[in-house]
Amino acid sequence: MAHGLLVSDHAIINDIYSFNLKAYVDLGVTVKDSLEDALKVIELGAAGEIIICLSQMGEVDAGFAIVTKVEELGLDIPIIVIGEKSSVSNTAKAYTLPPNFNIPVLVKTIAKILGITAKDMMEKSIPDFYPVPMSIVDTFEVAPCHLYLKVSKGSANSDYVLCVEKEGSLSGKGDRYRSEGFHNLYIPSDLRLEIVNKASKVVMAKLNDPLIQGQDRLKASEQGYDVVGGLLGESSEVTPEVVAISKRCVESVKAVIGEVPKVKILLLGMLENKTGYLYLHSVMGTYVSRHIIREISWGSDEHAEKLSFVFFFHDIFLSPIFAKYPHFQFEEDLVFKDDLGDKEKEVVINHARLAAEMVKSFPRCPMGADAIILQHHGTTNGMGFTLDYKDDISPLAKVLIVSEAFVDQLILARDSGAEPVLEDMIAELRTRFRKHTYKKIINCLETISF
Ligand SMILES: [Fe+2]
Ligand SMILES: [Fe+2]
Repeated sequence: MAHGLLVSDHAIINDIYSFNLKAYVDLGVTVKDSLEDALKVIELGAAGEIIICLSQMGEVDAGFAIVTKVEELGLDIPIIVIGEKSSVSNTAKAYTLPPNFNIPVLVKTIAKILGITAKDMMEKSIPDFYPVPMSIVDTFEVAPCHLYLKVSKGSANSDYVLCVEKEGSLSGKGDRYRSEGFHNLYIPSDLRLEIVNKASKVVMAKLNDPLIQGQDRLKASEQGYDVVGGLLGESSEVTPEVVAISKRCVESVKAVIGEVPKVKILLLGMLENKTGYLYLHSVMGTYVSRHIIREISWGSDEHAEKLSFVFFFHDIFLSPIFAKYPHFQFEEDLVFKDDLGDKEKEVVINHARLAAEMVKSFPRCPMGADAIILQHHGTTNGMGFTLDYKDDISPLAKVLIVSEAFVDQLILARDSGAEPVLEDMIAELRTRFRKHTYKKIINCLETISF
């Protein structure tokens, strides 16, 4: 194995460069995240056969400092600078690469410098990849398998780069990747079930921990939600595992929202935690619908329980789709997105029917929960989305629909940066849902603690 020095304080670059260089050109790198330490390594003659460095670190021209040191010592080591912020970028003194995660270009450049032919490069069959939501990544302390990042749009396999090796520490990684705008990591598709199963064990243990509370409990339930979504996406069979995790999650959500004084506080907490859209909308919907049931003349505890159950499952078949396209919001919009394949659009259109079928085989499924789920987009066959909300669906389905519409308005208002105004939101709902039975439900929102 050849050896080199990587000088960078960008943790993600350090991960993906070192793993991919080892994998593709058999180059091991010593990583130094301070320029001072890197210069020491060079002085000691331990830089190896190549130096790769960020063009700038902090305010310092790192490329220049390294080129100068190498020249001073009279060493003959090729230097690659990443980015154009150094005075040696784009000069004969160093090779210059763009400041991104473009691993193929990096690998090609290094192979050329080190005289490695394509033939020498390890021939690898690159697997298909499957997205894993960051919430599931967070369940592990060490990587359960090689984890990959998708570094550009498009679907070519070369867009995926190794970012954490199997058994590598995941401490702090989830937050770091999130802060760089990544919502998912990827795993080889054939490992999907194995990884989801592993995650489910960890999540179950967390949900069973009586000491976790508040946002941590809500977060553990989100992990449970994603695990259940992953399991059901694999096969819609209701396994004992699916039953156990979802029961715990429904209980957890109920316990947490029972302690939240205001709907906006719940929203803010979840936004801060970068909760995925689907789970956020499920939890917020539960909160709002429980308020409606408390207010409406015919509401009972049994109805509230039923709605908690229904809210957990109603969109669960969309979970793998939102995992793959985490930047999307609002279910109705999905069918119009070009990114989605035909099969995925089919799932979107049928997601209410699929979930209704699935909960039927759920042990002690609350009576009528399947019908509410089936009708949750206003159609009686669980297919598609209606714009014309009629009276022919169950009253609890109407509560669900109004609650969801309210939550989506809240999210829209937040996204636009405006402070949501309760009266305006209610007025908007009244124009959208004209039938008398819906109006009664909407009236209940006037007393929600906002
Ligand atoms: Fe839905
Ligand atoms: Fe929904």
